[in-house]
Amino acid sequence: KKVVLAYSGGLDTSVIVRWLQDEYNAEVVTFTADLGQGEEVEPARAKAEALGVKEIFIEDVREEFVRDFVFPMFRANTIYEGEYLLGTSIARPLIAKRLVEIANETGADAIAHGATGKGNDQVRFEMGAYALKPGVKVIAPWREWDLTSRDTLMQYCEQHNIPVDFSTNKKKSPYSMDANLLHISYEGGIMEDPWAEPEEDMWRWSVSPEAAPDEATYLDLSFVKGDIVAINGEAMSPATVLETLNKIGGANGVGRVDIVENRYVGMKARGCYETPGGTIILKAHRAIESITLDREVAHLKDSLMPKYAELIYNGYWWSAERKMLQTMIDESQEFVNGDVRLKLYKGNVIVVGRQSKDSLYDDKIVTFEDDAGAYDQKDAGGFIKLNALRMRIAAMKGRSLL
Ligand code: ARG
Ligand code: SIN
Repeated sequence: KKVVLAYSGGLDTSVIVRWLQDEYNAEVVTFTADLGQGEEVEPARAKAEALGVKEIFIEDVREEFVRDFVFPMFRANTIYEGEYLLGTSIARPLIAKRLVEIANETGADAIAHGATGKGNDQVRFEMGAYALKPGVKVIAPWREWDLTSRDTLMQYCEQHNIPVDFSTNKKKSPYSMDANLLHISYEGGIMEDPWAEPEEDMWRWSVSPEAAPDEATYLDLSFVKGDIVAINGEAMSPATVLETLNKIGGANGVGRVDIVENRYVGMKARGCYETPGGTIILKAHRAIESITLDREVAHLKDSLMPKYAELIYNGYWWSAERKMLQTMIDESQEFVNGDVRLKLYKGNVIVVGRQSKDSLYDDKIVTFEDDAGAYDQKDAGGFIKLNALRMRIAAMKGRSLL
């Protein structure tokens, strides 16, 4: 029996390696992805080797992550429950896809992950795996074992002579965290009380708005078909765009949110997130769409966005309906080209300019000055009267609309 495990190299997933070997008599294959979490992934190799793993996959998937997952999502201005930019949610389908591909390559029939039985991540990993490999077996140790605390995990290490010395590892953070190029998340610990404000030193990617510079930072972003391709005139790859915006945004206190969200499994959970680059992209993308999209296209896409966000949050990236919506969203981006100028200031992202060769904005029509006959104001009288017709009829028939 062979199992491909999503392996971080940390304590939890290292225990999972040994547990799969012992409980399932499985040959474990590990997959460790560099998604831009800001931690070296190479050390996972020695740790996996020390656990007797023979097939070790360590991959830099940062460009694929931003190009094929993050950017397509931002084309829809996606946001879950009005606040959450889906930083963790959007990384899971990529990991699920690679787990399945590696299973096919190595002849494994099962995949495993370190998500708990209470959260969204289990759903996203497993939904993806089933969609891409219908006969796959899934092993989710957290739903099976009784190693529920760090102490019992450490005990397990000793009893099963897990050779990596995790006890000397740097002090574990008091929060459950997840990071990639799009965001860093914090849950648990003091945040389990939704009234309790997290300590300032929890935040890792951004300064507080109070500590941000007193001078605004200006930024020019260039779009092609809805994606940012250059910053201040300099062409960049998708991952470099996001990395650059994270730095500039973080330095200006941009992108912190503190929310209570509805998990797919039914409970409410409090989470804090830093998404500096994503917050900038969302604002800038709306600005470029504001001059390049037809009104009805923009409104229709906005009306479908919450559904699209929910699909990603709930783990349905690899579904027919997400694919259908994506095709529609991508089609809408044909003319979403041009530049947006932003000002970042103490946590705010302020749009100050936008321009496009594909702009639908027409100053000759909208002007408050003489429009030289470009627009006949007399037309508006009939337009309003006919739109009001059904209300007038109702009122004439004695219906009160008060
Ligand atoms: N609540 C967020 C989500 O469902 C973040 C999850 C963080 N995951 C983690 N393994 N720490 O997308
Ligand atoms: C987990 O349960 O493993 C993390 C939180 C989540 O997936 O929502």
